[in-house]
Amino acid sequence: MNETDKARAQYLSKAMDSVWNIASDFERSINPDSKPDPAPDLSKTAQVIASEKSLDPEISRCNLSMLSELCSKCEKCQLSKTRTHVVFGTGSTSPLVMVIGEGPGFNEDQEGIPFVGQAGRFLDKWLESIHLSRDENAYICNVIKCRPPENRDPMDEEIEACQDYLIQQINLLKPKAILGLGRFACQFLFGSDSKITKVHGLLKMYRGIPAICTFHPAAVLRNLDLKRPVWSDLKKLAAFLGIPV
Ligand code: URA
Repeated sequence: MNETDKARAQYLSKAMDSVWNIASDFERSINPDSKPDPAPDLSKTAQVIASEKSLDPEISRCNLSMLSELCSKCEKCQLSKTRTHVVFGTGSTSPLVMVIGEGPGFNEDQEGIPFVGQAGRFLDKWLESIHLSRDENAYICNVIKCRPPENRDPMDEEIEACQDYLIQQINLLKPKAILGLGRFACQFLFGSDSKITKVHGLLKMYRGIPAICTFHPAAVLRNLDLKRPVWSDLKKLAAFLGIPV
């Protein structure tokens, strides 16, 4: 979140608290015995509203094909200098589920398509196990659209430079649910202090869309003990969508 958004979020949060307190005072004035609830913590809501407002105007005007075109020419961060292809996203344009990974690896960078390597084949099996597929009812993309050199972790400034593309993709595709894979998707969806080990399998809301996170397929390939929690998380997603498994 940039400094302007932070200031805006603080201002909004205070304004929402004031409205709550005025409403509580009013309730007490007409019913002195009432005990209005204390103001809830609205700071997260304020952050969402503040950052939503400042979506890059050029991006916010795009439909999906315009967005893909704009993204393919993006030079907002240093990854544009080393990428082969921008990996925008692929799949159903009216998806039940939007899957968000971390960022392209070597194969994805070569082909311009997300999750085409070993982790991708594993992901396709996960989706198949709950009757989803990228050809029919799922859309697959990443937090960042360009490959970091040597597959290093994406940097904060790269994630920040790319985030409006992903937000607009979500706005346009309006999935019934979001499945976040791994740490970076989890932090994008649920905030930068979220830990995948703590929040995986919890159904939360992201900008009004139900979202659930699980471990990244590459992490599961490294540690097969994670297969069991992933299967449990996937079953929760399927149950939420009413898909019998
Ligand atoms: N890992 C990701 O997070 N995304 C891809 O597209 C491929 C591997």
